[in-house]
Amino acid sequence: MPDKGAFPHYMLKEIFEQPLGLRDTIGPRVSLEDAAIVLDDVRISAEELRALRRVNIVASGTSRHAGMAGQYMFQELADVPVDVDYASEFEYRNPQIGPGELTIVITQSGETADTTAAQREAKIKGSRTVAISNVIDSTIAREADGVLYTHAGPEISIASTKAFTAQMAVLFVFALYLGQVRGRLKREQRRKWIEELLELPNTLETVLRCSSDCETLAERLHAVQDFLFLGRAIHYPIAMDGALKLKEVSYVHAEGYPTGETKHGPNALIDENLPVVIIATRDANDPGSLLRHQKSVANIKGFKQQHALVIAIISEGDEEIRHLADHAISIPQAPELLLPILEIVPLQLFAYYMAVRKGLDVDRPRNLVKSVMVE
Ligand code: AGP
Repeated sequence: MPDKGAFPHYMLKEIFEQPLGLRDTIGPRVSLEDAAIVLDDVRISAEELRALRRVNIVASGTSRHAGMAGQYMFQELADVPVDVDYASEFEYRNPQIGPGELTIVITQSGETADTTAAQREAKIKGSRTVAISNVIDSTIAREADGVLYTHAGPEISIASTKAFTAQMAVLFVFALYLGQVRGRLKREQRRKWIEELLELPNTLETVLRCSSDCETLAERLHAVQDFLFLGRAIHYPIAMDGALKLKEVSYVHAEGYPTGETKHGPNALIDENLPVVIIATRDANDPGSLLRHQKSVANIKGFKQQHALVIAIISEGDEEIRHLADHAISIPQAPELLLPILEIVPLQLFAYYMAVRKGLDVDRPRNLVKSVMVE
């Protein structure tokens, strides 16, 4: 088992190892000089990838949240329809998949029983499969047509942190590759994305500076028993994962919800006793993102009228939400499709410090195991 070094817990160490995990996962797969993505291990011919009718992503827990973010990446960069499933639910909906489709299974451990069962089901139905795993030669990797390893390094803490950001990064690289093979991305577009990707680990390093801010927030809110986490579009899976992290390590009830859905029910719960954590970042170069941001501004105004405590994850320079929210944590500017990889970091840190403040066994929360090897 790796050493914790100067860190009190593996979870904190692994959160801080995320820039390295991103560098190792992205670096060997991109060439800025050639404006090209190189993915030899996919082991599915370019001809088959060009003819793909649909991508199915199947995973559990945090890995499924990565897949949900991946759905936006594939649809935008490779122009291919994507469905995302819970591995544990996959067989029950009699998935209508078959030849001409690709099923991507994502699992940090590579041994999750629900996910390996879903992969077998997809293969029986004639779909090609690609496994994304952090463990070399894991069961899922051995059984897949192709494999894309995340090079996050061993993840010891039960809460998945560095594997999650590496999964999103490799999904992004894979989406770029598909876009390249299918002729959807011009050389100049690919070059621009590769530049952004190579910068991402440095940007994540900057985000880690919010650690003491997250600790202060946890100090202030450690006694709260319920939280609502909100996000729109590609930010919704990040809200889901922020809520999952809080649940699993600090035993605090938290729900992740799409921001726009609050008006369809959860609003009845929102008052001074239910803090709202809202992901309200924006990409200044993306009109769709700016529109979503304005909708979030309106939502926050509504939550404040209902006397809720609002904690917002915002983009640097967003004075509008900084003034509206009770507490704002800002992250550097980034393209909409890459923002999730940065946004999750303050939520991981918040969950971590909540658990520490409560004196809990952060790395080994009760009733959970690292690899769920039974269905
Ligand atoms: C994440 O923090 C959880 N411990 C859990 O949801 C985990 O992501 C899930 O069990 C899937 O594990 P896997 O990635 O190893 O398949």
